[in-house]
Amino acid sequence: MVLASVVTEPEFRNVLYILSFGLFIYGLSGLTGPKTAVRGNRIAAVGMALAVVATLLVDDLNNALIVLLGVIIGTVVGVPAARQVKMTQMPQMVALFNGVGGGAVALIAWVEFRSSDGFADVPTYVAIFSVFAAIVGSVSFWGSNIAFAKLQGLIDGKPVTIGALQTPLNALLALVAIGCGVAVIAGQNDEYLIITLLLAAAALGNLLVLPIGGADMPVVISLLNAFTGLSAAATGVALDNTALIVAGMIVGASGTLLTQQMATAMNRTITSVIAGGFGGTVEAAAGAVGAGGGTVRSTSASDVAIQMAYARQVVVVPGYGMAVSQAQHAVREMAKLLEEKGVAVKYAIHPVAGRMPGHMNVLLAEADVPYEQLKEMDDINGEFPRTDVSIVIGANDVTNPDARTKPDSPIYGMPILNVDESQSVIVLKRSMSSGYAGIDNPLFVNPKTSMLFGDAKKSIAEVTEELKAL
Ligand code: TAP
Repeated sequence: MVLASVVTEPEFRNVLYILSFGLFIYGLSGLTGPKTAVRGNRIAAVGMALAVVATLLVDDLNNALIVLLGVIIGTVVGVPAARQVKMTQMPQMVALFNGVGGGAVALIAWVEFRSSDGFADVPTYVAIFSVFAAIVGSVSFWGSNIAFAKLQGLIDGKPVTIGALQTPLNALLALVAIGCGVAVIAGQNDEYLIITLLLAAAALGNLLVLPIGGADMPVVISLLNAFTGLSAAATGVALDNTALIVAGMIVGASGTLLTQQMATAMNRTITSVIAGGFGGTVEAAAGAVGAGGGTVRSTSASDVAIQMAYARQVVVVPGYGMAVSQAQHAVREMAKLLEEKGVAVKYAIHPVAGRMPGHMNVLLAEADVPYEQLKEMDDINGEFPRTDVSIVIGANDVTNPDARTKPDSPIYGMPILNVDESQSVIVLKRSMSSGYAGIDNPLFVNPKTSMLFGDAKKSIAEVTEELKAL
């Protein structure tokens, strides 16, 4: 009896919330390194479970069955989805999860509007935060769905615009949403207003993300993630729920920082990503032959094996193509053989190699590559001049010397891995197609470079066989 009254006390709930925030933050700090990331994720998940339990302890919770049903549906859908998703599909998975968060926040604002019979009798700040959550949550839900559909190939990844009408229409939709919001904040109790607000924000979410090229989606998803976090925090203020405020602000702040860091590592502004630009050109450029002129030297698995077997140091430079071909285990096996032959092997990790932050680290960790062999860009760049062979596995833009030397290149100024400074470069890819940025790469016609064409996993397996025979 006493226990029952204690656990339903708001103070008890607050203690649980504070514990859960501590776990969120401690868990997040674990995500800063591959060794501690899995543990950090689990710790944050325990924090989230604690926050859910604390919320369920509200004594006037009169819909426990519906909540339970929600938890069951979420678990049944979420757990197998998270287990089965491939690492290359992680950005769209994040988009879906993120979108659902934004959608939930928008629906809560609607429910609150209905249950309080409009916002006339609620404090103005509650009405303002609810309207903010409804607009931003709805934009985030619909924008994330488009991002998911583009990355999953359900709709065309190319930018879709309605030309000159795009900006005025976006502005009109934003005005409609804000206008309806102002009316409900002022006390208008008309449900059509909140429905119109949600629909206008929904159309805006679609129209904002449709014009962005599929390849820019990871940055957009991170930005939408920040939006969802902010709208959840606003809902927390409206509902007077500290857990939502803190969790929402953590998501909002980390999403904003991540977006900023990705944009900086690509040497692009967030506005240039939103406005389209490269990423949209990838399809058009794919299949382009040549690398701006010059002779391409192709090589064979046996030549590659010989070059590497007699090297002192080999640097592996993984990129998006390694993820596509899932070559990480084959790479590790090849590296082990090289090490047995006395070759020093290191891995050069570019901050935006692949399609999501930490993409290469995760893949290589999965293949049990020792962490100490993974070298960040700033640490490895000085080593290329004393590297005998750099083997570039499905990487392209992150090795493009134009970023250093060609001021009119779209990637000019982006820090790159200086593989062209090594004694010899071997590039594994299937064709002369461009990468994400849709541009030629002069590294491929550099006299030091030889190309081993084919699927990366298959090529590595062939090189490994040759190494065994040496
Ligand atoms: P990319 O420049 O995209 O090049 C990847 C290369 O992999 C392609 O040129 C492709 O050439 C090759 N490839 C694809 N499938 C392959 C396979 N099965 N076997 C062998 N090769 C294969 O990759 P990157 O160098 O990793 O650079 C990443 C790019 O993505 C950067 O421009 C970055 O700004 C951008 N980006 C990154 C992120 C994050 S956070 N990582 C987010 C958004 C954008 P073929 O078709 O000829 O095989």
